[in-house]
Amino acid sequence: MTASLDDLPLRDDLRGLRPYGAPQAPLPVALNVNENTHPVPESVASDILDDIAVALRDVNRYPDREFTELREAFAGYLGHGLEASNIWAGNGSNEVLQHILQAFAGPGRTVFGFAPTYSMYPLLAQGTGATWVAGTRHPDYEITVDEAVAQVREHDPDVILLCAPNNPTGTPLPLEVVEAVYDAARGIVIVDEAYQEFAPKDSPSALSLLDGRPRLAVSRTMSKAFAFAGARVGYLAADPAFIDALRLVRLPYHLSALTQAAAIAALRNAPIMLGMVDEIVSQRDRITATLEALGYPPHRSWSNFVLFGGVTDPAATWRALYDKGVLIRDVGIPNHLRVTAGTEAETTAFLDALASIGSAS
Ligand SMILES: Cc1ncc(COP(=O)(O)O)c(C=O)c1O
Repeated sequence: MTASLDDLPLRDDLRGLRPYGAPQAPLPVALNVNENTHPVPESVASDILDDIAVALRDVNRYPDREFTELREAFAGYLGHGLEASNIWAGNGSNEVLQHILQAFAGPGRTVFGFAPTYSMYPLLAQGTGATWVAGTRHPDYEITVDEAVAQVREHDPDVILLCAPNNPTGTPLPLEVVEAVYDAARGIVIVDEAYQEFAPKDSPSALSLLDGRPRLAVSRTMSKAFAFAGARVGYLAADPAFIDALRLVRLPYHLSALTQAAAIAALRNAPIMLGMVDEIVSQRDRITATLEALGYPPHRSWSNFVLFGGVTDPAATWRALYDKGVLIRDVGIPNHLRVTAGTEAETTAFLDALASIGSAS
């Protein structure tokens, strides 16, 4: 006999919610969750393994609760004059975002973002008992300074999540919008730069805005450009006082000794780990150009994926690609689908499969 959720004394504010659930299907070509589909290079994998082996010898003890060496490594990677005291990390940037919301959102507070945006934001907000408030974007998903400021003034949120570039649309976010939103807001402003490494090399990061803005945090992840999604490592940079707030809500020893060792070794090899970024960007641009030629208007993307329109029946096209062994993502935007840039062969498999379906409206 099994009970249903309705039989349990669940929190009222969680009733009716659906968990995050991107399909995990064992298809030959998986381009649905914006992973880096290139494996960790062999030389780096063996370096990481050596460090994990050393960490394993002390695994009877709790790990460094402050993960100091890892924070120093992230500070070094990010530059911008940041130090270990500016850095926080977690098991994926989802956990880092959760820490922020546990500290600064919660019951009676609001969390705001410009929709459509990363699907976990509402869930993370609601998980802390806060209310998610969805702002709007232009039909091309861009946001202007004036409109951003007007929406922030109208909703007066406790926490603002700016996804830059935005998932699931790929849209870049000018730093002027971040600055204006910060000035207009009384609450916390988070810039989620999960895909920043795929942006043009000369595009500035919101890290350059941190100095003198104690309510601002910039989050990053090793899941995308670093090809480290399975290791679960995300991080952020902010004022040291902001980091102190996160210490109040984290579980003790939340980053395992093995995770810390793996991440430190991966960061030591950052140039090799990031070696595939240019190739991924060129596959992304190839996807954009080919989709255009096939009659599926693509949206401008600074990330490792492309959102495209012109899909008469997204569920049917998604299924037809699935049946051809290609997994992409139906993000729930009418007439649109999203695809991750894969290896050259995976990208070709997707483009050929889509062309053979031929259902552009
Ligand atoms: C915008 C954005 N932020 C954060 C994440 C979470 O990444 P992770 O928890 O793997 O670091 C994702 C993953 O897809 C994302 O798209």
